[in-house]
Amino acid sequence: MSEGYARITGWGKYVPARVVTNDDLAKIVDTSDEWITSRTGIRERRLRGENDTTSSMGAAAGREALASAGLRPADLDLIIVATSSPDYLLPSVASQIQHLLGAACGAFTMVAGCAGWVYGLTTASQFIAAGTYNRILVIGVEIISFALDWTDRTTCVLFGDAAAATVVEASEEPGGILAMELGSDGSGAHALYVPDGGSASPISQRTIDERRQYLRMDGPDVFKFAVRTLSSSLKRTVYQAGLTPDEIDLYIPHQANKRIIETAARQLRVPLDRFYINIDRYGNTSAASVPLAMVEAIEEGRLKDGDLVAMCAFGAGLTWATVVMQMGTGELSAAYSLFSVARARFLARRASDVVFDTAQGALLPLYTRIYGLRKRL
Ligand code: UT7
Repeated sequence: MSEGYARITGWGKYVPARVVTNDDLAKIVDTSDEWITSRTGIRERRLRGENDTTSSMGAAAGREALASAGLRPADLDLIIVATSSPDYLLPSVASQIQHLLGAACGAFTMVAGCAGWVYGLTTASQFIAAGTYNRILVIGVEIISFALDWTDRTTCVLFGDAAAATVVEASEEPGGILAMELGSDGSGAHALYVPDGGSASPISQRTIDERRQYLRMDGPDVFKFAVRTLSSSLKRTVYQAGLTPDEIDLYIPHQANKRIIETAARQLRVPLDRFYINIDRYGNTSAASVPLAMVEAIEEGRLKDGDLVAMCAFGAGLTWATVVMQMGTGELSAAYSLFSVARARFLARRASDVVFDTAQGALLPLYTRIYGLRKRL
């Protein structure tokens, strides 16, 4: 049985070797390096090689994560794979990855758009908190390029293919995941979707004629949702963890558009250099975006034992997911445990908010009456 705290103990990535620059794309659609860079921050992305599949890429990232955790595939209790671009509609790509790894455990695929891996991480932490499992591999993998319309400049320049994985293990040391938020707003389903190929609209001649097998996105609509969601969900989750935004060592946001990240930094009043950004090299890799950024942040020494990290992803659904966690099990972990000073401070802040809101509610009729009286005079 586990001890309840979920820690990340291993990490790995797989990015295809093929680099495609903005100038390469300008040869196939009416776009330019200047437009893509200034509107999104993307300079290049990786696209799948001939032998890359979602299962092979996910397994490659998983193998690296297991090696860095010092575990064998047989040690795993569960595999969670977040993706919107599985090898097949059926079977679940998680089972293919379990087989490729040679693991002997349960495996399931999680579909939550770009927020998938963060959803997966929170799910893994619940299995650990419940004492059900001790070692879980959470993979985010995407070959989104197969679902792109390469004649549509409004979408094809934005995305890239990648895989990243983390091993989540039970620990008796306080720390790991401190707070989380999962969100969904299905009213925005058609802002980012693939019209045909599901049960609502199976593939037909019309699909091919009207290119309905490809991803469609109302960019400005999703942009507004993303800007609204990123900073507000981060703020709520950071407070829920008993922290303030300036106490977070590193923010790892979904890499959808650099302008969205810059806006969130301004709204949180946190310097932009505290936000990890690698969108320039990979574009938007959907469910692989946040774990890939996390793996690179660790590799570059930007995320160390004891650091407080806040991750937030958003995307098709519409969905979003945010996690605040503490890396490793350093002494700092104890400072943020259930009965810590930080938690007491958080509860005090919450209590003062309640008092303020109640006082406002009570004073409003009085204020209205005085205001009405003054107007009449
Ligand atoms: O991971 C899922 C979450 N996804 C997101 O968060 C993406 C959110 N959306 C965005 O990041 C932005 O909306 C985009 C990058 C997709 C688009 O940027 P925008 O500043 O909102 O541009 P726009 O859609 O308002 O288009 C402005 C102009 C249009 O031309 P007109 O109508 O003003 O003449 C577009 O046709 O830019 C044109 N345009 C392009 N021009 C050159 C659109 N795509 C391109 C392009 N190259 N690739």
